[in-house]
Amino acid sequence: MEFSYKTTTERDTERLAAAFAQVLQPGDALALTGDLGAGKTAFVRYLARALGVPENQAVTSPTFTLQNIYHHGRLKLVHVDLYRLAGLEELEALGAEDWRAPDCVLLVEWAEKGLEILGPDCLRVEIEIGRDEERIFQLRATGPRSEELLRLLPQQL
Ligand SMILES: Nc1ncnc2c1ncn2[C@@H]1O[C@H](COP(=O)(O)OP(=O)(O)OP(=O)(O)O)[C@@H](O)[C@H]1O
Ligand SMILES: [Mg+2]
Repeated sequence: MEFSYKTTTERDTERLAAAFAQVLQPGDALALTGDLGAGKTAFVRYLARALGVPENQAVTSPTFTLQNIYHHGRLKLVHVDLYRLAGLEELEALGAEDWRAPDCVLLVEWAEKGLEILGPDCLRVEIEIGRDEERIFQLRATGPRSEELLRLLPQQL
C-alpha cells in the first residue's frame, strides 16, 4: 500500500508532521529518504514539536553524532542520520540494535544506507523536491503496522 502527499509550503509539511504525530505509537519506525535539502530534518523537527518536544531542545540533523534522542515529548524519539555512515559495522558500534525499541519511535534520515536497522515493518517516506517549496512525500508501507499507519493518516491535509 502506498500514497503520496504534496506540500506546497513548509507550513504544509508542518501540517503533515502534525498528522503523523496523532497516529504514531511507540515501536513505529519511519525510513526517511530524499536528496540533500529535501526536508527530512524539517519534517522530523515539526514532528518533534507536534509531539511536545520543547523549543529549547534543538532538533537538528545528527549528521556527525549520527543519533539524537528526544525524551520530552509524548513519545521518546530516536532520530538517526546515516549520511556519514562509513559501513554497516559502524552501526553495531553505535548500539543500533537498540534503536528499534518498543518504547521509542525511530526516525532515520538517509535510511537507504542502513535499512537493516529499521526491521521488516517500517513506513518508507521518500521526499522529492519540486518547484520552490513544493515537496512530494511518497509513503510506502512494508508490513502490517506501517499499513495501519497509512490507513490512520488523513487522505488529505
Ligand atoms: N515544503 C517544504 N517542506 C520542508 N522543507 C521545506 C519546504 N519548502 C522549503 N523547505 C526548506 O528546505 C530545507 C530542508 O532542509 P532539511 O535540512 O530539512 O533537509 P534534509 O532532507 O534533512 O537534508 P540533509 O540530507 O542535508 O540532512 C529547509 O531549508 C526548509 O526550510
Ligand atoms: Mg537532514
